[in-house]
Amino acid sequence: MVHRSNWLLGSIITALLPLSHAFYLPGAAPRNYEQGEQVNLFVNTLTPMLSGTDDAKLKSMINYDYYNPKFHFCQPEEGPKSQPESLGSILFGDRIFNSPYDIKMLEDNGTCKTLCVVPDVPAEDAKFINDRIREDYALNWLVDGLPAAEMKVDAKSGDLFFDMGFNLGDDDDELYDTPALYNHYDIVLRYHEPSRGNYRVVGVLVWPSSRGGSQENVASPVCEGDVGPLILSETQTSTIRYTYRVTWNESDTPWATRWDNYLHIFDPRIHWFSLVNSLVIVIFLCVMVSMILLRTVSRDISRYNAIDLSEDVQEDWGWKLVHGEVFRTPRYPMILSVMVGNGAQLCAMIAVTLVFALLGFLSPSNRGSLATVMMVCWTFFGGIGGYYSNRIYASLGGTDRRKNAFLTATVMPTLIFVIIFLLNLFLLLAGSSGAVPFGTMLLIVTLWFGISAPLSAVGSYIGSRQGGVSHPVRVNQIPRQIPPAPKYLRPWASTLLSGILPFGAAFVELYFVMSSLFASRAYYAFGFLALTAGVVSLTTATVTILFTYFILCAEEYRWHWRAFLTGGGSAFWLLAYGLFYWASRLSLDSFSSVALYLGYLFLLVLMDFLVTGTIGFLASYWAIRRLYSAIRVD
Ligand SMILES: *[C@@H]1O[C@H](CO)[C@@H](O)[C@H](O)[C@H]1NC(C)=O
Ligand SMILES: *[C@@H]1O[C@H](CO)[C@@H](O)[C@H](O)[C@H]1NC(C)=O
Repeated sequence: MVHRSNWLLGSIITALLPLSHAFYLPGAAPRNYEQGEQVNLFVNTLTPMLSGTDDAKLKSMINYDYYNPKFHFCQPEEGPKSQPESLGSILFGDRIFNSPYDIKMLEDNGTCKTLCVVPDVPAEDAKFINDRIREDYALNWLVDGLPAAEMKVDAKSGDLFFDMGFNLGDDDDELYDTPALYNHYDIVLRYHEPSRGNYRVVGVLVWPSSRGGSQENVASPVCEGDVGPLILSETQTSTIRYTYRVTWNESDTPWATRWDNYLHIFDPRIHWFSLVNSLVIVIFLCVMVSMILLRTVSRDISRYNAIDLSEDVQEDWGWKLVHGEVFRTPRYPMILSVMVGNGAQLCAMIAVTLVFALLGFLSPSNRGSLATVMMVCWTFFGGIGGYYSNRIYASLGGTDRRKNAFLTATVMPTLIFVIIFLLNLFLLLAGSSGAVPFGTMLLIVTLWFGISAPLSAVGSYIGSRQGGVSHPVRVNQIPRQIPPAPKYLRPWASTLLSGILPFGAAFVELYFVMSSLFASRAYYAFGFLALTAGVVSLTTATVTILFTYFILCAEEYRWHWRAFLTGGGSAFWLLAYGLFYWASRLSLDSFSSVALYLGYLFLLVLMDFLVTGTIGFLASYWAIRRLYSAIRVD
């Protein structure tokens, strides 16, 4: 038996394995260099890094510009120049500049060079640098589109992989009392020669080290030998000499697979485990729901329809009792329909983004492409939001359709914009470079209010031409009394109960998503993510239909808001998980970091609530219409 199940698991995994290779395609066209051609090294923001060990905690949320004057890094002679970037790359905090490193293809192999000497670093800036070292900040460089990485060994599998970014300094307390600043970089550039005389960069590794001793001498740098670490004094000015050495190392990795070393999947078994786990949940649920809905409901229906044939003495019972109530207009139909409209827009955005990701367009080699595609999709799906919002509003019996169209197009963008604006203020206060520049803000406002809002209005118009959906039973004049519901069907209890299953299905994948969002780890397991998203939406739909059936049986007919809440139940678990992640994986000490984390978490939870709530609501609406069109009502 054990053998059987292992074999089964094995064959499932083998069947799905090609998916794991479809996670990414290399991005742009390869660039060939001739010998002696300049190879540019670009610098990106400094980001807090999760150091390798398992119990490591992220200590900050704030990015700093490489050329932030407090760091005193060497600048190019003509001053740093900003490099063009995509919208998504800017939004996700990339700020790329050129650098003074002089690197020429296959030249100066192993030559020790001085980059520059920085005299008079004030004591308070030294303290600033030391604090950033204590917070595990990392430098992020780019050479030919590849991030500079440190080579590490995966403790579980023993594989070598490239960990993007490398430390600003070393604060290993056992070695030194104060942090040591890394001021020497051993840069190993791996090249591949596809045809004679043409060279391509296929790997960038950096071994930083701290070299103390005399910092003044520009002319004769020394890159070897023991000179002790460079420790910046926090009481007097210091001088820093930056040195580097480039080594060219031939590699047989072709250009097409150069990202493979970077895209290392830590323990793919965890992904598979989570996937199999959630598949089991879904299959279990689907079987349960189809049993209940097919057996119970069809029995109910045949009994309801048979009663009329005998005497009229038997009374109605169960969900049939509320047939005159289920389509009664709920409270606040305006808010509900606006939420469903925006949820539908987000669902469409997520679905299309996942398709793009599966096709391999959104690998980390296309910087910022994920965020760009999401923004663009969201903008152009404004029409879907308007359409759904308007039709649902009409179906719920709303009359003020213009107001509905207006609110659908404006409320969500304004809310998100206000939140991002506030977060930006915190970033500015913290002196971070992560703040979205004014021009980008303007572009986003134009996208949202110039394209998304008009499209939403068009969608609303089309929706209003089609009108609301028809209902199979009429609504009674006088509302029924509602008996008290059992405890587990009270709104909060059912919301939390129903949220457990979709949350449980996504739980493990969520950990990876969180660490890529907050700990700047690249995320590329889009195959897993797409499957997980599918599983979550199926689970949400089934669980919500189930709960809606239960509350109708309890003669509680106000199901509209309940279905939205029940569907969105996983958002509350997501919130709890986010707080747990904060407590267990982060140790943020500055107020700005905490505010930023909570702000992003709130946005994430809000999106999840809208998306899953919409799925739950639409699924229940569909099920209820099916249910009540199957019975005969006099
Ligand atoms: C550069 O030097 C390293 C050793 O220092 C050697 O392994 C490598 O082959 C050299 N590369 C070239 C292009 O000469
Ligand atoms: C160059 O690559 C070889 C194997 O590919 C490796 O053993 C060697 O250490 C590398 N040299 C440097 C300087 O990294």
